[in-house]
Amino acid sequence: MRVVHSPLELKKLLKEEQGTIGFVPTMGALHLGHRSLIEAAREANDLVVVSIFVNPTQFLEGEDLDAYPRREEADKKVCELSGVDYLFYPDASEMYGEDEVSLNAPSVRGYIMEGNSRPGHFSGVLTVVNKLFNIVNPTRAYFGKKDAQQLMLIETMVANLFMNVEIVPMATLREKDGLAMSSRNVYLSEQEREEALKIIKSLRTATQMVMKNELHVSRIREEMLAILAPLDVEYVTIVNRSFEPIEHVEIGNTIILVEAISGTTRLLDNIWI
Ligand code: PAJ
Repeated sequence: MRVVHSPLELKKLLKEEQGTIGFVPTMGALHLGHRSLIEAAREANDLVVVSIFVNPTQFLEGEDLDAYPRREEADKKVCELSGVDYLFYPDASEMYGEDEVSLNAPSVRGYIMEGNSRPGHFSGVLTVVNKLFNIVNPTRAYFGKKDAQQLMLIETMVANLFMNVEIVPMATLREKDGLAMSSRNVYLSEQEREEALKIIKSLRTATQMVMKNELHVSRIREEMLAILAPLDVEYVTIVNRSFEPIEHVEIGNTIILVEAISGTTRLLDNIWI
């Protein structure tokens, strides 16, 4: 595995390579969820590139940019053991200059839900992913369904800007107790973690209601909100796969999303129905 810090050097090295490139962009503190993306990239491509970059433009003022877990040595090992060919590990000063061109998230779908809790967050995500795609020029790029709105916005960017990359959505990996794996879970105290389990509980209850043919979005939300009551709930939203509001669950075309804060940790989860 080669570790590369300079964007232009990585561009040059990859130009000399042949075959398909599978790309997994991350912010590090790698867990099994990240690994499942790397493994899928390994299976389907000749080369695998992983990036680790805690992207400053997607953090708002006062968020956890400085506290975000950084695990350079452990992450390098994970990548090496997972068969990664190139690990891209840039410094912020090599990714951003002054007075730059940047992308704006779409004004509706980029500013609802997480985009409403964190205005501007998705513009930072799209800008950095666009930069990373231009550096790596991947055949396929892998993203988790756990960040469903991020995934939808990246798919929208690729379509809107006619980009040449196939986006591969990947299932959410969970801890044994159902908590969705996340680099931010390390912030949770024992009690906050216990509380956080209400999120998966509410999503499982929603699934059971749908299985019993209760398709009214308002009734499902009500049940979920009752379960989530001990948490600080940012939203419980039920939309179709285009992120448009719906009144009735459409099986095969619905996503139920939750964002809630346990202690001070923002937790996202969802199920696709
Ligand atoms: P990060 O939070 O590190 O996540 C990197 C990728 O791993 C994302 O596509 C995310 O959806 C996926 N992922 C996270 N937890 C997962 C889980 N439990 N199961 C499966 N996949 C999971 O998302 C980002 O970084 C950044 O916004 C980034 C896209 C890298 C841009 O900076």
